[in-house]
Amino acid sequence: MPFPVTRMRRLRRTEAMRSLVRETYLQPSQLIYPLFICPGEGVRKPIGSMPGVFNLSIDEALKEATECAVLGIGGLLLFGLPESKDEQGSGAWADDGIVQQALRALKADARLKSLVLIADACLCEYTSHGHCGVLYGEGHDCTVDNDASLPLLAKTAASLAHAGADIVAPSDMMDGRVAAMRAAMDAAGEEDVPILSYAAKFASAFYGPFREAADSAPQMGDRRGYQMSGLNLREAMREIELDVEEGADMLLAKPAGPYLDVIRATRERFDLPLGAYQVSGEYSMLHAAFERGWLDRDRAMLESLLAIRRAGADFIVTYFAKDAATLL
Ligand code: PBG
Repeated sequence: MPFPVTRMRRLRRTEAMRSLVRETYLQPSQLIYPLFICPGEGVRKPIGSMPGVFNLSIDEALKEATECAVLGIGGLLLFGLPESKDEQGSGAWADDGIVQQALRALKADARLKSLVLIADACLCEYTSHGHCGVLYGEGHDCTVDNDASLPLLAKTAASLAHAGADIVAPSDMMDGRVAAMRAAMDAAGEEDVPILSYAAKFASAFYGPFREAADSAPQMGDRRGYQMSGLNLREAMREIELDVEEGADMLLAKPAGPYLDVIRATRERFDLPLGAYQVSGEYSMLHAAFERGWLDRDRAMLESLLAIRRAGADFIVTYFAKDAATLL
């Protein structure tokens, strides 16, 4: 029955009425806060392109984690800046690697029990060339060797699980990495640690600021030989399907804001828990507008997060986690 019998504005008249018919919610427990762990003590190095984000030494990361726990945030996603890098990225699976040390310290603190500790499993922060896997032999172009990278990624996953990761999250986009990681983790007695696969990860300009934060920009070439083209939704569904078959327990879509249709399509097609990563560029872009006074900070931040929830994500990895949790 159209107008004037039907008037949509009847249900928008008061805050109480609007609240009654609200469809989408966001809680601090649905937010995951990324941390960039670096060597040293008392280090809190600001990232130029990401206001409010820092490289943190483990002692500082513990303070940050305590704040997150008090705010009721769901968990942390850990990235590492190793002391030194090499061709293979051996710092990624070192028993005393930077993230392994951080995991042990975070696990040892009883006040942080409410936080789910997610370890990003990738080689790009640890390789001298900045790619997410190892390169084909000397003098070659910068093609990443898929099969030679798998055992290294698998070792990394097992090492992170052993150090205390509650969830291991592969972000490298090699074919077969989920199965390889599952096998290595099971062989190491870590069969209870789930894999959160960055299943549909697109080669995106929005990762720019992260590469400053994680010091992981490729020295030559780019990641389009392994990350997906942002133009392909059907290919994304195949990627996800394969990761599910290989044993992924949860899925992560990335970036989030510019790819809400991918989140929606994934939600409709798969029943695994689904997270979305509001990446560095999405954060930096909003911050740039906040600094100029062009957007209302609190409203624009929450709207960007609620849109990701409405699209179908169960949880969101976001650099706004603390700011949003404070408001909620
Ligand atoms: C590592 C990784 C990246 C991000 C998460 N894990 C960078 C990349 O793929 O180049 C980006 C996250 C962000 O931009 O916030 N492979």
